[in-house]
Amino acid sequence: MNKKIAVIGAGNVGASTALYLAEANIADVVMIDIIEGMPQGKGLDLTQAGPVRGYNCTVTGSNKYADIRGADLVIMTAGLARKPGMSREDLLNMNAEIVGSAAKNIKKYAPKAYVIVVSNPLDIMTYHMRKVTGFPTNRVCGQAGILDSTRFRAFVAMELNVAMAEVQAMVMGGHGDTMVPLPRYTTVGGIPINELIPKDRVKAISERTRFGGGEIVKLLKSGSAYYAPAAAVTDMARSVLLDEKRVLPCSAYLTGQYGIKDIYIGVPIVLGAKGVEKIIELKLSKKELADLQASAKKYKGVLKEIGY
Ligand code: NAI
Ligand code: 2OP
Repeated sequence: MNKKIAVIGAGNVGASTALYLAEANIADVVMIDIIEGMPQGKGLDLTQAGPVRGYNCTVTGSNKYADIRGADLVIMTAGLARKPGMSREDLLNMNAEIVGSAAKNIKKYAPKAYVIVVSNPLDIMTYHMRKVTGFPTNRVCGQAGILDSTRFRAFVAMELNVAMAEVQAMVMGGHGDTMVPLPRYTTVGGIPINELIPKDRVKAISERTRFGGGEIVKLLKSGSAYYAPAAAVTDMARSVLLDEKRVLPCSAYLTGQYGIKDIYIGVPIVLGAKGVEKIIELKLSKKELADLQASAKKYKGVLKEIGY
C-alpha cells in the first residue's frame, strides 16, 4: 500500500507542494481546503497530468478533514499569506486559529502522523501545532530554513555564475527578519564563500536573503512565494518518508541547545523516518550565537501574544 500525505490548504503553496510530491511519486496525496470544489478540482487536474509526467500516485482533494485519516505525514500550509506591507507576524492571530483547528483534526484523524508546518509566522505556528496536537516534538517540525538557505544558495550561484547545486548554505534562526545567514558555513564545491566573494558582497547577499520573502511579496502584490517554499517542503517530506536522513535547517523544538529552550527555531537537524532524529549543534562565533539567541528571544515574545 502506498504511503499517504495530507496537505492542508490547497492554495499556492499547498497545490505546488502536491505537484512536486506527485512528481516525486513517493505517496498518495490528499489536499484539504475549506473552499468548496477547489481542492477536488486541483486534485483531478494533477491526476490528469500523471500519464504525461509518469507518476502513478493518486492526488485527490476534499473539504473534509476526515479524509486525512491514515496519513503518514501531514503538511500544514493553510492560512493567510502576506500582502505588501504585512509582516509574517501580522498573520499571527488569524493563522493561529486556522492552525489550531487543523491541529485538533490531525490529532483526531491522523494521530500517528508526522507533521511539517509551513503556515506563517512559521516558528510560532509550529510551536502552536505541537502544543495543540500534543505530539512528541520529534514528530512536529517546520519548514523555513531550507527555503531561506536555497535563496542564499541561488544568490551565491548568481553572484559567481556557477551551478546552483554546487552551492551549500546554512541559514539559522527564526523565519523572519531576525534569521541568521551563516556565510562561514556556506560553500561552493566545498570552498567557503568568504574565499570567493568580497566581504561587502557577502554582506549584501546575506541581507537580500533575510528579506528574500518580502522582495517576492512586493513583486507579486497579492500574495507570497510558493514554488521555492513547496520545493523546500517536498525535500523534507522525502527525507521523512524515504528515511533519507538529510541534514537540513528546519524549525525544531530546542531544549537547551544553543542556550535556547522551549521554542521552535531554525537549526540544522537530521530528518529521517523518526522525524527530527538529531539536532546538530554547530560551533558558532560569539556574534552568530548572539544573533540566534536574539531571534529566539523575539519569538518568545510573539508566543506570549497567543497565550503561551
Ligand atoms: P494561499 O492563500 O494561496 O492558500 C492558503 C489556503 O488555505 C487557501 O486556499 C485557503 O482557502 C486555505 N484555508 C484557509 N483556512 C483553512 C482551513 N481552516 N482549513 C483548510 N484550508 C484552509 O496562501 P499560500 O501562498 O499557499 O500560503 C499559505 C501559508 O504559508 C501562509 O500562511 C504563508 O504565509 C505561508 N508560507 C510560509 C512559507 C515558509 O517558508 N514557511 C513560505 C510561503 C508561504
Ligand atoms: C517567504 O519567505 C512568505 O514566508 C514566506 O516567502
